[in-house]
Amino acid sequence: MAGLEDTNSAPSASARQGWGSSLGFVLAAAGSAVGLGNLWGLTYRVALGGGMAFLVMYLVAVVALGFPLLLAELALGRHTRRSPLLATVAVGGGAWRPLGWLFPLVSTVILGYYAVITGWVARALLAVLQGRLPTDQAGADAFFLKLSQGWGEAVAYGLVLALTAAVVATGVQQGIERLSRWSMPALLVLLTGLVIWSASLADAPARYEEALLQWRWSDWLDSRILRQAFSQAFFSLGLGAGAMVAYGSHLGRREPLPRQAAIVTALDTGVGLMAVLIVVPLMSAGVAGQQGAAGAVGTLFVAIPLGFASLGGAGPLLMAAFFFLASLAAITSAVALLEVPVAVAMDRLGWGRARTAWSTAAVAALLGLPALLRTDLLMASHDLFGGVVLMASGLLLSLLMGWGRPGN
Ligand code: PHE
Repeated sequence: MAGLEDTNSAPSASARQGWGSSLGFVLAAAGSAVGLGNLWGLTYRVALGGGMAFLVMYLVAVVALGFPLLLAELALGRHTRRSPLLATVAVGGGAWRPLGWLFPLVSTVILGYYAVITGWVARALLAVLQGRLPTDQAGADAFFLKLSQGWGEAVAYGLVLALTAAVVATGVQQGIERLSRWSMPALLVLLTGLVIWSASLADAPARYEEALLQWRWSDWLDSRILRQAFSQAFFSLGLGAGAMVAYGSHLGRREPLPRQAAIVTALDTGVGLMAVLIVVPLMSAGVAGQQGAAGAVGTLFVAIPLGFASLGGAGPLLMAAFFFLASLAAITSAVALLEVPVAVAMDRLGWGRARTAWSTAAVAALLGLPALLRTDLLMASHDLFGGVVLMASGLLLSLLMGWGRPGN
């Protein structure tokens, strides 16, 4: 422990700002976890088929791997009170430095494409508010193409990153915590309202049964479903990117970590399941074949608008509520992704928070350009960074926690 005591007494570590309250921290951590992964990733994968097998495997992954790893990330951050880069070195020694670097790298890359999708969500919200809703499949395809192209897309992308940088620049307590304190409760209220409404649609029971309750032996042996369930669990909880290490580093010693981690896990999973309950009745049967031009991102931007539009009068209002809550969820996750490289640069280079936030957001903007220009590249980087790399770095982190000797 001696070595760690030394690092703890370094000026930047002891001057580290704490969270304003336990609740504030839990909401911020839940804000990091709850994001487009829940609203878009989970529903899309359920829609692809294999609903029941996928959901069960996902829940197993969350409980068996996600929760312990979330706890491990928080513990690593709190114990060292360091950014994700220096926390790994403090616990495991110099050999773990590459893992330390992987965290800011992967979170910045993810932030780049995440901001692209967040920009689409914001534009979809704007479109509904202006009364522009697609009414048929061709219209829905065109709607998505319009969101995801042109100058409007680039401007939305820039604004999302600027907003993210502004929140992070304002500080952990004043920026991140303050945003989460109102946006998470607002999101939960909207979500609950939408679930009640969606579950009471006439053919909801039949749709649930078809999408979620079909038992097919072949699904359980499908390694693709297994892999997707595990990568969904990692991405959705925001593990493997160092975000929880960064958030944990501002935690006080007395916080009951297992309880906090359990609440965050439950909130994240609960929101994901609620999103599934909202979206399933909206999608006409076999939506996987209906993605049209939007390809894999179809669920959120093609099937959902179409589903809302088919509801007549209440449709636009409900869709506005859905895309508003998706924007909130996305921004709090983007903020967590940016906090990782920002914490590293502040810790490592001694830069001020504001300067670091704006310059790392600029780097993320550059890294996200390929995803901005081509949706297939966006999906490819999500598969690679949001899937394989997150899982690999999460598992490496658990090795570090098992093998690392504090004080080395
Ligand atoms: N968990 C977020 C989501 O579900 C994404 C995220 C990944 C956030 C990694 C932080 C770190 O959308």
